[in-house]
Amino acid sequence: MTAFKSMIELIGNTPMVELTRLDTGKCRLFVKLENNNPGGSIKDRIAVTMIEGAEKSGKLKPGGTIVEATSGNTGIGLAFVGAHKGYKVIIVIPDKMSAEKIYHLRALGAEVLVTRSDVPPGHPENYQDMAKRIAEETPGAHYIYQHGNPDNWRAHVEHTGPEIWEQMDHDLDAVVAGIGTAGTLTGVGRYMKKIAPHVEMVFADPEGSMVGPYVQTGELLTAGQWLVEGIGEDELPPIGDLSLIAKTYMVSDADSLDAARELLAKEGIMGGSSTGTLLSAALRYCREQSEPKRVVTFVPDSGLKYLSKMYNDYWMIDQGFIKRESFGDLRDLIARRHADRADYTVAPGDLLTTAYARMKLYDVSQLPVIDDGKIVGVINETDILLAVLDNEEKFSHPVREAMATNLKTVPLDTDPSDLLPILNDGYVPLVVDDNKYHGLVTTIDLLNYLRRRMRD
Ligand SMILES: Cc1ncc(COP(=O)(O)O)c(C=O)c1O
Repeated sequence: MTAFKSMIELIGNTPMVELTRLDTGKCRLFVKLENNNPGGSIKDRIAVTMIEGAEKSGKLKPGGTIVEATSGNTGIGLAFVGAHKGYKVIIVIPDKMSAEKIYHLRALGAEVLVTRSDVPPGHPENYQDMAKRIAEETPGAHYIYQHGNPDNWRAHVEHTGPEIWEQMDHDLDAVVAGIGTAGTLTGVGRYMKKIAPHVEMVFADPEGSMVGPYVQTGELLTAGQWLVEGIGEDELPPIGDLSLIAKTYMVSDADSLDAARELLAKEGIMGGSSTGTLLSAALRYCREQSEPKRVVTFVPDSGLKYLSKMYNDYWMIDQGFIKRESFGDLRDLIARRHADRADYTVAPGDLLTTAYARMKLYDVSQLPVIDDGKIVGVINETDILLAVLDNEEKFSHPVREAMATNLKTVPLDTDPSDLLPILNDGYVPLVVDDNKYHGLVTTIDLLNYLRRRMRD
C-alpha cells in the first residue's frame, strides 16, 4: 500500500454494497456509498471537476477565489478541495440553513455570507444573485454555478457511471437517482445510454418537488414543501436531461425518513434523508418487477449530518413522524416524559456545578429537582448565577440551597389552554398526578402539540 498524496485522491471509487436484510422482491438491490467521500457526500466529485474545469478554461487562476451559492454538500466539497488547491472560497448561503453547516464550512476555511432565504431569484439579496454579483465584483473570482455547469454532470459520465458499471460486472438493469441539480441522473444516464442502453434510469423525487410531476405529466406546478435535503426542486434543472428517465416515483417525507432509519437498523448503513427517498423508490421499483433484476441506488450523503433531526426520536415525534402512546391528558404535551426516563433532572443533594454542567450539556435553561419521584423544586440559570455571583465556592453547594420552591404544578387533566397564563407569567407548568411527577411543559411543547393536533 502506498500512501495517498491528498484527500482529493480519496474522492470517488466508493464501495458498492448489496442490501440483504430488506424485502427487495425479485431484484437484487445494491447501494453505492457516496457518504464515503472525504467531504461526506457525492458532491465532492463535482467539486473537483468543476474546479479543474475552471482551471483548464482559465476562468480560475492560481490564488483566485471560488464563489458558490449553496449551503449544502457542494459548499463543503468546494471548500475542502479549494483549500487544498490554495483558493479562497466564498460560500453564500440562505439563512434557513442549519448552524452545523455554517460551522462546518467556516471550519474548512471558507468565508460564509448569510443572506435572506425568503426572496426570489432577481432580488439583490437572493443567494444566487448575490453569489453572482460577488464573483463579478471580486478580482480573480469565479462563480461555479453548479446548476448550470456541464462539469457537474461530466463528473458522473467520467467517474460515477463507469464505477457502477464495473462494480456490477457489466450486469445491471436499473439505476435509481434523485435530482438536485440533475448532475448525477444526467451524467450516469448519459453514460449508461452509450454503454448499456437497456439500463433504466429511475427517478426518485420528494413529494412537493415540481420536477417529478413535470416528468410524469408535462405540467409545470408550483412547488410545495418537503423536509428531505439535497433533492427536490422548485424549478426545472437547467443541465438536466429529463428524457433519460424511464420511471418516476414521488416519495413522502414520512416514507423517506422511515426507509433511511430502516436501512440503518437492518443493514447498518447510515445515510442522510435523501438516501431514504432513493431507497423507498428503489424498493417500490424492485417489488413491482416480475423478472429478476439488478438495481443500483445511492447513499448520497452521510446520516451524521442529520443526527439531531431524523436520527433523533424527539425530533421525529415533534414532526409527527413517530406516533407515541397517547393518554388524552397533559402527558401528550410533555416532550420528555419522566416515566420514560427521557427528561433531564437533578436531585436536591446534587451540587450546583452538576446542575450547571447538565444545563450546558443538554442545552436547557432549567432543571426540575426530583426527590424520590416527587418534584421538590426547579432550578434555572438565574438561580445558579445569583447563588455563585459573590462566591464561586458555592458551586459546590447543593441544589436545594438555590432552587425555587414556589412551583406551579398542574394536574394531568388540566386543559392545555390553561397553561398559557402560567407560561406567560414566566413559570413552567409541572405536571403531577397526586404526588407523582410526570414532566414539564414548555412554550415550544405547547406549540408543537397544537401543530400536531392541526395536522392530525
Ligand atoms: C443529498 C443529495 N445531494 C445531491 C444529490 C444529487 O443531486 P444532483 O442532482 O445535484 O446530482 C442527491 C441525490 O440523490 C442527494 O441525495
